[in-house]
Amino acid sequence: MDWGLKNRISRIIKPHDGKTVMLAIDHGYFLGPTDKLEDPKKTVNKLEKFCDSIMLTRGILRTSMNAKFATPIVLRISGGSSIISNDLSNEKITTSVKEALRLNASAVAMSIFVGAKYEHNSLISLGNVINEAEEFGMPVLAVTAVGKELEKRDARYLSLACRIASEFGSHIVKTYYCDEFEKVINSCPIPIIIAGGPKLDEQKALQLTYDAINAGAAGVDMGRNIWQSEHPIEMIKAVRSIVHGNKNSNEAYTDFKLAIKK
Ligand code: 5RP
Repeated sequence: MDWGLKNRISRIIKPHDGKTVMLAIDHGYFLGPTDKLEDPKKTVNKLEKFCDSIMLTRGILRTSMNAKFATPIVLRISGGSSIISNDLSNEKITTSVKEALRLNASAVAMSIFVGAKYEHNSLISLGNVINEAEEFGMPVLAVTAVGKELEKRDARYLSLACRIASEFGSHIVKTYYCDEFEKVINSCPIPIIIAGGPKLDEQKALQLTYDAINAGAAGVDMGRNIWQSEHPIEMIKAVRSIVHGNKNSNEAYTDFKLAIKK
């Protein structure tokens, strides 16, 4: 692996344990001003020091993140449909790899829509982005199973989507936790990180995190279950203690409850 590519990946997936806590705040690119992410600057200022990287769009990076912050950036470069459109899978590449380099991103992220109407376009876009990104040693994070595809969230479907992402040459894949998650992990040769999905109570979100890590996930790319919590700092610390600190979900939840009482 080229030095630059290896170095960028190690900014995201920490070499000491091979794990990562990525904070996802890219939701506005199709959801608009999502609840508790209306002012992304506040979210970034509050949470950036507790995550290993932040996943966001170019617009939010420029407007809401201090360029002096050292937190690595994972730049979302796909988009093109909103939550009120007929088909969320109709995405194209909206930001170039060159722009990602200019913004000093440590990786680029884009969605693929396996099984959806625009599956073919999204997969060809993934191939094209990887071809371009390889030239500059830029890692590519493929995001799977967004939108309607969520309805098919089982090990069979997620294994298919993650494996395809890896076959195209993605460096990391983001997906959702499911029953028999080991099957997804064992059939995918690249690191898998999990999204949190819609807000759960904190205990359930910590359980989800633990189950995914226990099954072999390399970490989380979590958004709503952190910044929609009434206690986002305590929540991201609890997630971190599972991902990097070997805590189980009960230990992490106990710490979370103690921390919010203080
Ligand atoms: C949507 C995304 C989000 O970043 C992803 O869903 C993670 O956020 P959450 O934990 O809130 O689900 O890529 O396409």
